[in-house]
Amino acid sequence: MKKTLSLITLVLALAGCQSGGEPSQSAPESMRGAVPVAEMSRVAPLPQYPAKGTSVERSVIAQPPVIPHKADYPINLDKNSCINCHRGGKHKMAATHFEGRKVAGQYYQCRACHVPQAVNF
Ligand code: HEC
Ligand code: HEC
Repeated sequence: MKKTLSLITLVLALAGCQSGGEPSQSAPESMRGAVPVAEMSRVAPLPQYPAKGTSVERSVIAQPPVIPHKADYPINLDKNSCINCHRGGKHKMAATHFEGRKVAGQYYQCRACHVPQAVNF
């Protein structure tokens, strides 16, 4: 009998809570504001470089041509990957860049003059 009574009190108390408490007016504001979750988690688009083998037209005669490919190759005291590919061949550096057969010191930091060109870069 005692058990039944306490059960009834509990049920009544719960019912009271439900009807008594004012429902909250609106959900608490999210830290991401009104932006939907799907929008937030979208990754940045990958940079799109010009098609392989194409160079970007220069705007002025003396302009260092823009780099039509990814350009995060290491340039440090030990190695310069840019030189590996541009020492000779079809895409050889301009003659101004050489001191004899070596790349002149002032041309070693390629990215000081050449910048990569890409959509979404
Ligand atoms: C794996 C080889 C490779 C490496 C490494 C490389 N390039 Fe290139 N580069 C090319 C090729 C091939 C082209 C011709 C366009 C193409 O196919 O993307 C080119 C094109 C260019 C052009 C355009 C030339 C023109 O006449 O328009 C520039 C400038 C350039 N590269 C600079 C650099 C710089 C600066 C670096 C280092 C950050 C570098 N490249 C690293 C292969 C390379
Ligand atoms: C001081 C600025 C400067 C630096 C540093 C520099 N370049 Fe250049 N580069 C130029 C300019 C300007 C041109 C356009 C030709 C000219 O007038 O020499 C050029 C042209 C080129 C070309 C196109 C050559 C052609 O005949 O179409 C390539 C490829 C190139 N540079 C690669 C490199 C690489 C690789 C490095 C780093 C080892 C480098 N450049 C460093 C300014 C620079």
